[in-house]
Amino acid sequence: MSHQPIQGFSKLSKQDKINWIIKEYLQDNQGFNSVIQQYWNSDKALQKLHDEFSENTISNYYMPYGIAPNFLINEKLYALPMAVEESSVVAAASKAAKFWLDKGGFKTTIINTEKLGHTHFIAEIAPEKLQAFFNTTLKAKLFQATESITANMRKRGGGILDIELMDKTAELENYFQIKASFDTVDSMGANFINSCLEQFGKTLKEEVKNAEVFTDEEKQSLQVVMNILSNFTPDCIVRAEVSCKIEDLKDDSGISPEEFAWKFKQAVTIAEIEPYRATTHNKGIMNGVDAVVIATGNDFRATEACAHAYAVKDGQYTSLTHCTTENGIFRFWIDLPISIGVVGGLTNLHPLVKLSLELLEKPSAKELMGILAVSGLAQNFAALRSLVTTGIQKGHMKMHLLNILNQLGATEEEKQYFVEFYKDKTVSHHEVINEFNKKRNQ
Ligand code: MEV
Repeated sequence: MSHQPIQGFSKLSKQDKINWIIKEYLQDNQGFNSVIQQYWNSDKALQKLHDEFSENTISNYYMPYGIAPNFLINEKLYALPMAVEESSVVAAASKAAKFWLDKGGFKTTIINTEKLGHTHFIAEIAPEKLQAFFNTTLKAKLFQATESITANMRKRGGGILDIELMDKTAELENYFQIKASFDTVDSMGANFINSCLEQFGKTLKEEVKNAEVFTDEEKQSLQVVMNILSNFTPDCIVRAEVSCKIEDLKDDSGISPEEFAWKFKQAVTIAEIEPYRATTHNKGIMNGVDAVVIATGNDFRATEACAHAYAVKDGQYTSLTHCTTENGIFRFWIDLPISIGVVGGLTNLHPLVKLSLELLEKPSAKELMGILAVSGLAQNFAALRSLVTTGIQKGHMKMHLLNILNQLGATEEEKQYFVEFYKDKTVSHHEVINEFNKKRNQ
């Protein structure tokens, strides 16, 4: 069936939007009305709040919001809020937290907290001449022009840290950047950074236009292409780590602590040298990071983009975690670049985000960075622990069992039966279907 474009969709009422998609794309099946409406919140004000987070909202999309308790981080005990749909993530986090609880828990260190943004521009001006102008005039003007934008942030202890002119003409003809670094304290700072950068773009144009040192051709050649923050923040890094005596690495799979440590380290080394494995390895880390990022109202696309850019910063995609087994000590850590906030954005709006931050006892952005790195490290520990012992499917499919049974339309009684049935067996999709059909036909 071919479809017609629609004008003014965003101006339609919510119900008219639904009517239109049902008619145009869902074969006029009115049953979809109730699919959409059953997720509306009965509290009208709360629903309106959610409607207004985004454009053209017609319903809410639920994700499980779970808790992983027993995380000992810097001597303080946390229960982590995790919003994630993958069945095994919260269970894996809880298991890793418990494993490290009596071994000193997790330690975190903020390495640095600098964020970056750029004004990208093209100018047919000799790099040395532009640099001289930047040093003598432009840099000070950029600071001056953004004083009102940065006033509040400066009061909170942040602001613009530095501004540089970057000569990129070797990579692209006549391409330069104004590169600025920022401290955004407890906010992620995207709006703050972008506002500063847009002002830089304007000031750059004005100052070049008014400068006597440039010819008319040079002035006319200036084109500001864009002003935008970078989600790659290699100088906004937090480290999370665990360590213990190798002899304490006891695992109930029957493997010896020494063999466990050796295999675990091999698994990390493989992820360090082999991009195919590193991608899955880091995906598992981000299972833990993103779940807490989402629960705390932060931007998981930004944290994903940054983590993967960092993983490939030296030219080959590699592991974000590292491991040593020296002098009888097992040490496992992550250096995670991550830019998040605990003020601004959804943090003061979304009731569950507010709850998450309360649950974490109102962390500062630095503390939340640490918690997120721990969540990633714990998730990676749990995944590698399974991979080098029982294999991943045992735990993974056990958690997935309820999804399979729900797909099959199992009753509560049947679910209980099969959970018990698979207690000491490895779950596989086709076997569950066979067993289920067998039981139904009995
Ligand atoms: C599944 O979501 C994540 C894992 O594949 C990660 C890994 O292999 O390390 C289990």
